[in-house]
Amino acid sequence: MNQDALAQAAVAPIEAGMLVGLGTGRAAARAVQALALRVATSGLRVSCVATSKATEKLAGELGLRLIEPSGVSRVDYLFDGADEVDPGLRMTKGGGGAMTRERIIAAMAWRRVYMIDEGKLVARLGERAKLPVEVVTTARQLVARVLEELGLEGTYRVLPGGREEFLTDNGALVLDAKLPEAMSGAAELETLAVRLRAVPGVVDHGLFLRECEELLVEPAGGGAGGGAVRRLVRAKEPGQRATR
Ligand code: A5P
Repeated sequence: MNQDALAQAAVAPIEAGMLVGLGTGRAAARAVQALALRVATSGLRVSCVATSKATEKLAGELGLRLIEPSGVSRVDYLFDGADEVDPGLRMTKGGGGAMTRERIIAAMAWRRVYMIDEGKLVARLGERAKLPVEVVTTARQLVARVLEELGLEGTYRVLPGGREEFLTDNGALVLDAKLPEAMSGAAELETLAVRLRAVPGVVDHGLFLRECEELLVEPAGGGAGGGAVRRLVRAKEPGQRATR
């Protein structure tokens, strides 16, 4: 029996016939497992789209029915993880380098639920995580220079061992930048998100300022101390909801 309360809360709203977006990272992987268990034990019939090759592999191994994301424009429900969440439910994502596809599938989703442990709740973005920026290899020097001019210093991500550079599922680099405190206010983050997207060679970045409408927070220690999973909700803004 699956005792993972966070993962179970994430998959509880999934109903028969839904097209489900599967997030990336450890928390999302736990929910993928919980979903696969429901499918196997209750006969629930769903189709899934994965936000990364890693999730695609896991879901395939667990027997979930997968559809290529390029073949769909709408998803009923998405669960995904995050690296930090501030009090306005703004997030940094991309610790796994999957932010481009994560944002694309989030934009397709009617309902989006993000999952974190309590330690990822921060007073301001940048407090504990770097801001990842996905960069086309040809533009590596240009983007590093322009980001520095914008006040963002960072380094290109390398694989464990430090010899090879990390490449995303899109074959691009990831520059992990330090987000200065002065840029972490609501208005400053909005401006930065627009500026980053305008830099030639930037594919996408890890600032997810509006995507989080529901947040599931796992208590410290995974609830071993008796705490329950908390659900925080933000009202949807006009134009932010995918239509069915
Ligand atoms: C993947 O690119 C990220 O956006 C992940 O969703 C994020 O890093 C959370 O991962 P964990 O659940 O492994 O911390």
